[in-house]
Amino acid sequence: MLRIGMLTSGGDCQALNAAMRGVVKCVYNNAKDSVEFYGFEDGYKGLIYSKFHMLTGADFSGILTRGGTILGTSRVPFKTIREPDENGLDKVAAMKQNYYKLQLDCLVMLGGNGSHKTAALLKEEGLNVITLPKTIDNDLWGTDMTFGFQSAVDIATEAIDCIHTTANSHGRVFIVEIMGHKVGWLPLNAGMAGGADIILIPEIPYDINKVIDKIEERDARGSRFTILAVAEGAISKEDAKLSKKDYEKKLETYTFPSVSYELADSIAKKTGKEIRVTVPGHMQRGGSPCPYDRVFASRLGAEAGKLILNGQYGYMVGYKNREMIKVPLEKVAGKLKTVDPNSDIIEEAKLLGISFGD
Ligand code: F6P
Repeated sequence: MLRIGMLTSGGDCQALNAAMRGVVKCVYNNAKDSVEFYGFEDGYKGLIYSKFHMLTGADFSGILTRGGTILGTSRVPFKTIREPDENGLDKVAAMKQNYYKLQLDCLVMLGGNGSHKTAALLKEEGLNVITLPKTIDNDLWGTDMTFGFQSAVDIATEAIDCIHTTANSHGRVFIVEIMGHKVGWLPLNAGMAGGADIILIPEIPYDINKVIDKIEERDARGSRFTILAVAEGAISKEDAKLSKKDYEKKLETYTFPSVSYELADSIAKKTGKEIRVTVPGHMQRGGSPCPYDRVFASRLGAEAGKLILNGQYGYMVGYKNREMIKVPLEKVAGKLKTVDPNSDIIEEAKLLGISFGD
């Protein structure tokens, strides 16, 4: 008998269900023994507080195309994982206890950066853990691609496409704010796919004067509009120079809802132009996974299933240089995969005339 626990952790994304279905199908179809799957509800919370249910084949039927996660998810911050909860419960001890109580052979965790730190900790504590790289941000170290990313690129691109037509009609400057947390993969790719004129990402701090130069250059050429794809984590050159403490102090008195509104305000003041801000927000994480993500997540699921069947634990399944790989969890945990400002894609974007405000 093979007993497998499964949970989805952190912000959701498209293809979480497709990935879990992949694991389950692979194991069911190829295991020599009988198999039981247990789904922990709402991420690590389910493992801590023993909230789980047994999963049957029916749970995985028809979910390849379904967004969200059939298990629910939540954020359980890693930085307080060693601290007792409000009732004095030792969260790490509780997770171990519930794992052993269910006599699990393995825990499958689908998560992003923070969730991988907890997964590595559980491995260190002696549990058999296998993880799959989930996030629209594509910022997980050790894999070229995370599932959810391509679906989010599609949605963010669609948003920029829609803005294009109205920006053209009105001759306005439009800012589309794109998710991605502290990295620029999503705004960079959606920005390029949507034909944005200016792309601002956290890895390349911007100079507001360079942003305005680009808008004025387009005006001088007779372009009726300018579109900026701005990462939610975009940062100005001045702010990037501040110490962490000084930057946090600045944020205490920050009155704009986000960096895009601050930019809009600066551009309007300096140019007298009419600016509009669009924030697609969580739409980027919602809805059905795109075909790429359905295939990719299914493949990752199958690879994870293979590791389980071979009794190889302690890895994240990833994708590097067009090959499926396994990366030890301790190597993944705590590292961020950022956009290299000197990479080919940035150089090519600049050759196409896209400004990064630098
Ligand atoms: O990590 C995925 C992500 O959507 C980021 O792009 C974004 O910064 C964050 O989650 C939003 O988190 P929440 O859903 O908790 O508001």
